[in-house]
Amino acid sequence: MARHLITSALPYINGVKHLGNLVGSMLPADVYARYLRSRGHEVLAICATDEHGTPAELAAMEAGQSVEEYCAEQHEIQKDLGERFGLSWDHFGRTSRPQNHELTNHLADALDRNGYLEERAIQQVYSPSEGRFLPDRYVTGTCPHCGFERARGDQCENCGRLLDPTDLIDPRSTVTGATDLEVRESRSVFLLQSKLADEVRTWIESQDQWPNLPRSIALKWLDEGLKDRDITRDLAWGIPVRRPGLEHKVWYVWFDAPIGYIGATKEWSDLDPDIRDWRSWWWDSPEVTYTEFMGKDNVAFHTVSFPVTLIGSGEPWHKVDFLKAFNWLTYYGGKFSTSQGIGVFMDDALELLPADYWRWYLIANAPESDDASFTWPLFAQAVNGDLVGRLGNFVNRTLSLTAKRFGEAVPEGGQPGDVEAQLAADVQTKLDEVAGHFEAMEFRKVTRAIRELWSLGDAYLERREPWRLIKAEAAPWGDQTGQEAAAAVLRTAINLIPVLAGAAASIIPTAAGTARAAVGVEGTTWPTVDLTALEPGRPFTVPPLLFRRIEDEEVEAWTARFGGPADVA
Ligand code: 2FM
Ligand code: ZN
Repeated sequence: MARHLITSALPYINGVKHLGNLVGSMLPADVYARYLRSRGHEVLAICATDEHGTPAELAAMEAGQSVEEYCAEQHEIQKDLGERFGLSWDHFGRTSRPQNHELTNHLADALDRNGYLEERAIQQVYSPSEGRFLPDRYVTGTCPHCGFERARGDQCENCGRLLDPTDLIDPRSTVTGATDLEVRESRSVFLLQSKLADEVRTWIESQDQWPNLPRSIALKWLDEGLKDRDITRDLAWGIPVRRPGLEHKVWYVWFDAPIGYIGATKEWSDLDPDIRDWRSWWWDSPEVTYTEFMGKDNVAFHTVSFPVTLIGSGEPWHKVDFLKAFNWLTYYGGKFSTSQGIGVFMDDALELLPADYWRWYLIANAPESDDASFTWPLFAQAVNGDLVGRLGNFVNRTLSLTAKRFGEAVPEGGQPGDVEAQLAADVQTKLDEVAGHFEAMEFRKVTRAIRELWSLGDAYLERREPWRLIKAEAAPWGDQTGQEAAAAVLRTAINLIPVLAGAAASIIPTAAGTARAAVGVEGTTWPTVDLTALEPGRPFTVPPLLFRRIEDEEVEAWTARFGGPADVA
């Protein structure tokens, strides 16, 4: 049994997340956490809302709420949706909580002690009519690179280039539209990343276990030269800087957000301090394996920026061991867009169908090696083909037929033959393959192998044809009647149910739980292949259909409602 710390990139607070956000970090982290727990490992799965920065302040303003009120409300909404999606995190915290304030200032102090912080004068946009400095998104103007007129002070949405508010041509205040802006000098705290570049490179180069994507992104950042970074901002909402003369500033959101992983772990620990110890996960903890899940845009922050903070502190913080990074899930090849209402968001999804349907589709089509496109026909195909057609059908067919012919108990009598012995061996091989893909966090391969595992069940029934056997006088194997042989076949098939469902339980926890419970198997441990484990006479129930088909009319209606290829093009 090992100790696994798992974090998923913290969802930003400004609104309900879409399916792309979900599949890029929270969902695969949950699937992995559930898998590891099923293998008996000690798992701590941590997530939180990322609440600071200008987007939170601007979104609150738009909603007509104070930022505190806005964040508190949005946090509850995201927490509730996550739970309804079956995300089994041990704690879902908030980067705005006191634990993160404490830890962020603690790490800043440690960096300062070690000579990695420096106050510098910077040129900043000042708005006299508002009486304040305007950080990044508070300034809008024309992009100096592409001429786009509504570029934000941090980045141009049109050409994607990173900007500084002072770069913008014809700058204006995002909030009031004021154009009488000036550039004034102000003081800011810089993190001297350049001084830590060699140490970080040595650490990254020693991480042989990282996959290519994060490794190459990290090294590219280092190769471009690690620049010292301004880590304070002129905002009211955030973690106040505890330095004389800078008390009106807050730490930059990307400085405090990853520290929020530790902060949220401390929140969890503080809820039950007698039995929970956050330090045992994060501090001097070589026996812990720490895995992070994130979208590809977050990789540099997790492989370089956050490690810089931890390494620079000179303290024994546990840095990431494994990273799983995802490409984008697109909506018909285009961007999911909140403002244009394009795509499917977590609340919409649950309004249409239970979480398991989405979880299966998303994991089976995870944007692992490349971007992947969500389309309604593909979604319907995954549900109808895999969930309804394979697992659902096998469970229902097996239990209904048995109930009809033998009553609602595992049939007695009859002898299995060579086919059953071979089946057990094939199932074991396939189950091991599924496990191997889980261990490697290769999610598409996991679902492919599960699909093949499910097919073994169907192929078995087709091969033995218990519905035909039952009417035969003598069975083609063993010295037994057709009725006896059919009993042995259906007993074997019933024994397959907890294996077929159990292999997929971390992806479709509710349906897998229903299938297992129908044959009296409780708990969520990884299945063992013993096709005689459920003894004759043991009662079962025929559950309602595990999944329902998605009809063509629904595909049409949902495409019309949420947008289809024509709307995205
Ligand atoms: O990209 C994002 O949505 C960020 N909120 C992720 C933060 S991850 C971590 F560092 F907190
Ligand atoms: Zn531009």
